[in-house]
Amino acid sequence: MMPLEPIDLFQGRPAPDLLPTEHLKNAAVKALSDKTVSDPGLGYGPDEGYFPLRQNIASWLSNFYRTQQPIDAERFCITGGASQNLTSILTVFTDPLQTRMVWLVEPTYHLVFRTFEDAGFHDQMRGIPEDEEGMDANALERALELFQEEDNSTPDADKVRDSFSNPSGTTMTTSRRESLVRIARKFDALIVCDDVYDFLGWDLQDVKSIPSPFQRLVDIDRTLDGGPSDCFGNVVSNGTFSKLIGPGCRVGWAEGTAKFAYGLSQAGQNISGGAPCQLMSTFVNELFESKMIEQHIATVLIPQGRRRHLAILSAIREYLSPLGAVMSSDSISSAPGTALSGGYCVWLKLPAPLMAAEVCRRASETQNLTLGCGDVFEVPGSRSPEKELHRSLRLCFMWEDEKRIVEGIQRLAHVIKELLHTARN
Ligand SMILES: Cc1ncc(COP(=O)(O)O)c(C=O)c1O
Repeated sequence: MMPLEPIDLFQGRPAPDLLPTEHLKNAAVKALSDKTVSDPGLGYGPDEGYFPLRQNIASWLSNFYRTQQPIDAERFCITGGASQNLTSILTVFTDPLQTRMVWLVEPTYHLVFRTFEDAGFHDQMRGIPEDEEGMDANALERALELFQEEDNSTPDADKVRDSFSNPSGTTMTTSRRESLVRIARKFDALIVCDDVYDFLGWDLQDVKSIPSPFQRLVDIDRTLDGGPSDCFGNVVSNGTFSKLIGPGCRVGWAEGTAKFAYGLSQAGQNISGGAPCQLMSTFVNELFESKMIEQHIATVLIPQGRRRHLAILSAIREYLSPLGAVMSSDSISSAPGTALSGGYCVWLKLPAPLMAAEVCRRASETQNLTLGCGDVFEVPGSRSPEKELHRSLRLCFMWEDEKRIVEGIQRLAHVIKELLHTARN
């Protein structure tokens, strides 16, 4: 028998054919053909990053989030993407002796754990569960209170994602966002919010409807109760072009108060080498100048993302729901015009008594199918075998095409059926 073609539903990255390669090529040629762009592009950049790009990002986000006030370019610095920037944030604004604890929404994007470990927080990470409204603000507040009583010192850094969360797909409600900002202010904590998927939102029920994005936590911190409690604020938005242009682009942005952004730009690596990815920043800026970013998102990423999302949801309904698997509620909502869905993945609870690790192992061995095992999204420091994530899978839909997504789900159904049969006999 021919071996099965590999199918990978674990990859949380865009398929190469979803990337704006031709536009990027034109942008690079344009930038490198103009000395007023290529000279600064090939030099050491300013600490805060390429100013025209900061301006373009500021006006793009003001339009996208429909902010009451235009966002000022001073609030931004250019980064080497969300991962690089988390390292910078931790280097500049935390110290494992002073910052006592890192609280992360759970399940969380698994590749951040090492970054916190590198920054000295090996034993200082704790998970806060989320429900269908996002991170459980009451649980966070209780944890902070308890911790402060025991420790009598200043917390903390919180790591959250607010829309189309990776891995659970959850979008945090506005009231939950406001609660989190208030809690951060009360406990003098910094919220690091990976705003990575906000631009990839669609209405699953109605192709023509363009859902409004939620206010980001950083926007809420800018305006709630008269604005930030001090000049640094309590939220930094950690944005990236990885899911829009391509992960290899390694350009992102950080937004906070102007003082926060300036402080972040004074990391040793910036004052010595300039902001990361200076040349690539000039290419990305050309994509803004030619309006290609917005066009690419509107004409390729959103329609393709929506189609793939619909394909995975209907395959799950057809092949996995009858076996007792359950999707997270966000993925299957709601009325036309209100159904804000998006991102890169869906979160699936397996039928009892199946465990994710066993399902993933069998899927890989017998079906050449790679899946995101819930276990890997568990925050070190709060491990417990009882958690639901051990019975859950993350399934990504932006890597494989629609046909292969459906085939992947069929193969998964096969594995689940077999394991259920064994478990019941
Ligand atoms: C929540 C989240 N944060 C950060 C990243 C990584 O971003 P970057 O490529 O900009 O480092 C990802 C990528 O999957 C992600 O899902």
